[in-house]
Amino acid sequence: MGSCTRNCSTLLGSSIVFVTLLSIAHYMGAVDFTNDALIKKSETPGCSHDMPSRQGRHIPRDMLPSDRGIADIFRSLATSEREQDDPEVVQFIRDEIIEDRRPFLPKMSYNLYQTPQAVEVEKIFKKKKNGFFVEAGGLDGERSSNTIWFEKKHAWKGFLIEMDPSYYLQLRGKNRHCYTANACISSTNFPAMVPFVEMRGGNTAISSKVTKNSLDTMCFPFYSMMLAINRTKIDYFSLDVEGQELAVLKTIPFDKLDISVLSVEYVHTDKVQLKKLMQNKGYTLSKTISYENPSIAQWSYDYIFVKNGTVF
Ligand SMILES: *[C@@H]1O[C@H](CO)[C@@H](O)[C@H](O)[C@H]1NC(C)=O
Ligand SMILES: *[C@@H]1O[C@H](CO)[C@@H](O)[C@H](O)[C@H]1NC(C)=O
Repeated sequence: MGSCTRNCSTLLGSSIVFVTLLSIAHYMGAVDFTNDALIKKSETPGCSHDMPSRQGRHIPRDMLPSDRGIADIFRSLATSEREQDDPEVVQFIRDEIIEDRRPFLPKMSYNLYQTPQAVEVEKIFKKKKNGFFVEAGGLDGERSSNTIWFEKKHAWKGFLIEMDPSYYLQLRGKNRHCYTANACISSTNFPAMVPFVEMRGGNTAISSKVTKNSLDTMCFPFYSMMLAINRTKIDYFSLDVEGQELAVLKTIPFDKLDISVLSVEYVHTDKVQLKKLMQNKGYTLSKTISYENPSIAQWSYDYIFVKNGTVF
């Protein structure tokens, strides 16, 4: 998302770790989390789609127990013995996690807002047509989306990854021309079960420990997820996962995945390390975005990295 659509300052001080997943079928009742910011966002101009009411915000307790079979398979995969390209891990993601309803659903007409990240990335790609993006987190697939612009204006396709189950439901409803996954990107090289919590402001983030309010979610390495959609060439990767950016980037085998441009939210991360890591991977920092516009609930603090040697 590249944009801090949620309350950044709340997150800054927290010891948070990362993103999620689950099959939409398994929901329990609404849990009344604080989501003032969500409700407020629904009043922002440029959003045609109704946001869920407070009562409508369904948070699953835990996706796993509702399907013992899937839970058991996942547990057998969630071990450090597994490699990122483990065929069983990749097949599990392909079968149970990735959704692709593109052939079946009509496209919707969206309210298009070009985020500051999308402005920069569009310039870099010189309005290239038919590219491929990945966006994590995808949020609701529309508001503050860094990638919808490319889908609508330049016929790109892509892959949206969103951990938060209620955002994910909304995202699916947008009928984006994308693969989608209600999933967490792992900060380890193998699948892992991690607790996540809903933050004040309606956002979710991986928690460093299990608490009475935390829920379990399944995380997968980014590379495993890309293998599951048979894709190793990505034009634009938008990474905004509330503090896990550096950890996620460290897991990515940049020699095996060809990613031309990344926007990475830096506001919850060690900026020096982030820049150093990307430099070591052969990227050049092309732009630092620092944009705040509370009137449209848009906050963007992103680095745009371009892979050396890419011909646009
Ligand atoms: C990826 O390739 C595998 C094996 O060729 C195939 O079974 C699968 O359907 C493909 N998946 C997608 C998402 O295209
Ligand atoms: C990438 O390009 C930048 C800017 O041209 C240059 O300073 C840097 O040394 C290059 N890095 C690699 C690994 O080639």
